[in-house]
Amino acid sequence: MDQNAMKKAAAVAALAYIEPGTVVGVGTGSTANYFIDALATLKDRIRGAVASSDATAERLRQHGIEVLELNSVDALPVYVDGADEVNPHREMIKGGGGALTREKIVAAVADQFICIADGSKRVERLGAFPLPVEVIPMARSYVARRLAGLGGQPKYREGFVTDNGNIILDVHNLDMSRPLKLEEQLNNITGVVTNGLFALRPADVVLLGTAQGVERY
Ligand code: A5P
Repeated sequence: MDQNAMKKAAAVAALAYIEPGTVVGVGTGSTANYFIDALATLKDRIRGAVASSDATAERLRQHGIEVLELNSVDALPVYVDGADEVNPHREMIKGGGGALTREKIVAAVADQFICIADGSKRVERLGAFPLPVEVIPMARSYVARRLAGLGGQPKYREGFVTDNGNIILDVHNLDMSRPLKLEEQLNNITGVVTNGLFALRPADVVLLGTAQGVERY
């Protein structure tokens, strides 16, 4: 089974968590795209979807799935999204596609976060993948200095602007032995909008597509 087939298998498995008549939170990225395609088969049985990015909103609409504003939704039982890395505690690094802020907001609102990924995303310890940090543009140099002070090596994602009009610093070599503490430290840097660590709000369920089938933990 190739990597795309594993992503797709994990995405299809997430359909089991969708209750009829509810609004579904939908993530961003290639695995989330497989989920959107699968969700289209249930489109007449759900109330609509909340999107974590403009790209996801567009794909949902292309499939005829109604996209709702998060502020107009009173309950969001499930959020389904991919990850760049996920550890055994279901903590994740996200934001490789740059949608981390809206992803974190939708995840915060949802009762359950279902992480869908292929087996290559499973790690014992987070941190090989550079941590995306969304930053207000005028704070870029200041935040980069603060990130260096924490032992990281920030790299400006050239030519990329988030859906919120901000920039991304991808931070290499941060010590992630204590993800919760690091997430809080990064949140406390003025000018940081969001960091891609999902430890304060980890996934509730991980569905991992592997050559042996979909593993759940
Ligand atoms: C988007 O900003 C990310 O958080 C993605 O969810 C993550 O990068 C996983 O993407 P893939 O499913 O494309 O690997």
